Amino acid sequence: MSAQLQRAPTQDVVMADQEFKRIASIIHREAGICITDNKRSLAFSRLSKRLKALHLTSFSDYCDLVESRDGADEQLNMVAALTTNVTSFFREPHHFKTLQEDVLPPLIARAREGGRVRIWSAGCSNGQEPYSIAMTVLGMASDMLSRDFKVLATDIDPFVLRHAKGGVYPEAAIDLVPAELKNKFLTRGGDKDDPQWTVGPEPRRMVTFNRLNLMGNWPMKGPFDIIFCRNVVIYFDDPTKDKIWGQYASLLNPDGYLFIGHSERLSGPASSLFQSEGITTYKKTV
Ligand SMILES: C[S@@+](CC[C@H](N)C(=O)[O-])C[C@H]1O[C@@H](n2cnc3c(N)ncnc32)[C@H](O)[C@@H]1O
Repeated sequence: MSAQLQRAPTQDVVMADQEFKRIASIIHREAGICITDNKRSLAFSRLSKRLKALHLTSFSDYCDLVESRDGADEQLNMVAALTTNVTSFFREPHHFKTLQEDVLPPLIARAREGGRVRIWSAGCSNGQEPYSIAMTVLGMASDMLSRDFKVLATDIDPFVLRHAKGGVYPEAAIDLVPAELKNKFLTRGGDKDDPQWTVGPEPRRMVTFNRLNLMGNWPMKGPFDIIFCRNVVIYFDDPTKDKIWGQYASLLNPDGYLFIGHSERLSGPASSLFQSEGITTYKKTV
């Protein structure tokens, strides 16, 4: 193939039906994500950038690369390009009110008696969710840092995890952080015209970030006291969702809590193991 052909402008590239189907099948197999025809233009525009970066001239060549023995790195880019990472600090504030008023007080008491407390933010995106959890805990009980009280935060996308570990966010991102927690745990920096907020050492010490594909094997044994899995399974098909709810049920302690996204609901056999405790909030009953 000539260098000229390899560098054909991306706008000349088309995505044939078969190519879109192949991309949809790869992303479903690798990440559980279902992309239907209405996501076709999104897939086209996001993956066109990858073709351009790799000097490829067709989506078939791109799929060949992703599925080749050397394609693991590009597969990460593909998943990152096709996932939605929208998040915010203290998103769905009612969950944090429930945490503060009902869920955390007995867990803090348990940790003070020497017990173990574990929270998991599954599909944590760029870290705003687990840092919101850690700030809520530490705002109530700063001594939890010296107890066995930890937050695990996982995501499939290594690029959002890198941002999460950096812990730096633009001013607009911190709108919903309560003033008291902002003063305690976030530090303002950056330019006068472009302020950036950095998460302080205490919440960082409480949260551990790891890459985890919910479709793969889960190395952790639990048990967890709280699982946040919000706005993640929304992209999965029903059998996958049902399976994941079941896996969460097995990993949660009796009386453990599961928080899910605003447009999600529990389904499948595991739903009988939980009782509703408010909007998209569930407590394991057995
Ligand atoms: C819309 S964000 C939600 C972030 C946060 N939970 C919230 O509600 O603000 C969805 C996240 O799920 C992650 N995700 C998608 N598929 C995944 C999978 N198979 N395993 C783990 N994480 C996944 C994406 O990378 C993305 O960061």
